[in-house]
Amino acid sequence: MGDQVEPITLGEGMTPLARLKSIGKILGVKELYAKVEGMNPTGSFKDRGMSLAVSLATHYRYREFIVASTGNTAASAAAYGARAGARVTVVLPKGHVADGKLFQSILHGARAVYIDGSFDDALLNVFGEISEKNSLYPLNSINPWRLEGQKTAAYEIVEELNDIDLVLLPVGNGGNIYALYKGFKEALEMGLIEKPPKIIGIQARGASPIAQSWIKGGSGIETVERPETVATAIRIGKPANWLKAFKAVRETRGFFAIVEDEEILASQKLLAKLEGIGCEPASAASLAGLRKLIYESLIDTDSRIVIILTGHALKDPSIKI
Ligand code: F0G
Repeated sequence: MGDQVEPITLGEGMTPLARLKSIGKILGVKELYAKVEGMNPTGSFKDRGMSLAVSLATHYRYREFIVASTGNTAASAAAYGARAGARVTVVLPKGHVADGKLFQSILHGARAVYIDGSFDDALLNVFGEISEKNSLYPLNSINPWRLEGQKTAAYEIVEELNDIDLVLLPVGNGGNIYALYKGFKEALEMGLIEKPPKIIGIQARGASPIAQSWIKGGSGIETVERPETVATAIRIGKPANWLKAFKAVRETRGFFAIVEDEEILASQKLLAKLEGIGCEPASAASLAGLRKLIYESLIDTDSRIVIILTGHALKDPSIKI
């Protein structure tokens, strides 16, 4: 088997699926769980896809990677790139990357390039760089291997819970919501579940192009020029995977919703204080969304619900508590 791909792995995946007894009781939800993705090797769900993308890129003899990021993808690319012995460049929005993520990128030896503007400008920079240099391999979520790896979170949920009714997760660029959808769809096709769960994507008010466009009718995307939110991981105004995100939601009869920064921070505290689970602000958007939608009677509480907590609390220690 000369063509066998050698995996570049740090033991990603198989993260805890924790029952949220206290919060579930307060909200009156029949069964509430959190998929704690902060327990991945570099502290976010990005590791699932990074392992696969870096393994394949290495197999095809790429030795130089580049990625635009709000922080977590950069940290993950830096670590997996280091393990592969590759050179990694991370392109970051200047002044808007949480300290923990920046620290990880530098610690793992990545070269950091800072861009005035948002993630969207950083991604444009990456497109420019790869068009000029063929040997440079892009690790953004436009890379299909990333999403193939990330879909395994859905497999794991199915493995532990079989059929669930609802999944809520934060949405930035729109890649992960599609990855989850693909995982559930495949589980359905394999006969492992009877129906895919409804998928609900949550965005922060100041960076909510996908949710706003969905609410307006969902035929196209209206971008946000200057995205702003305390949840820096999802501070994205021109989401590259918006069409895929729409598909995930449409095909599961889900929807998108918007939450305020204050609701995000309050939910981050609830998870930490009532359940002992630390997550970064972007991740807490999923609980903020659940609380808001229950309050608005838009969610049937007689359901089995999973919220995805995408990144670890230590990623962003700057949050005032
Ligand atoms: N939660 C966290 C903690 C993230 O880091 C991201 C994305 C998301 C949610 C949203 O996922 O973009 O697939 O919809 N972070 C990217 C990054 C943009 O560069 O680390 P998405």
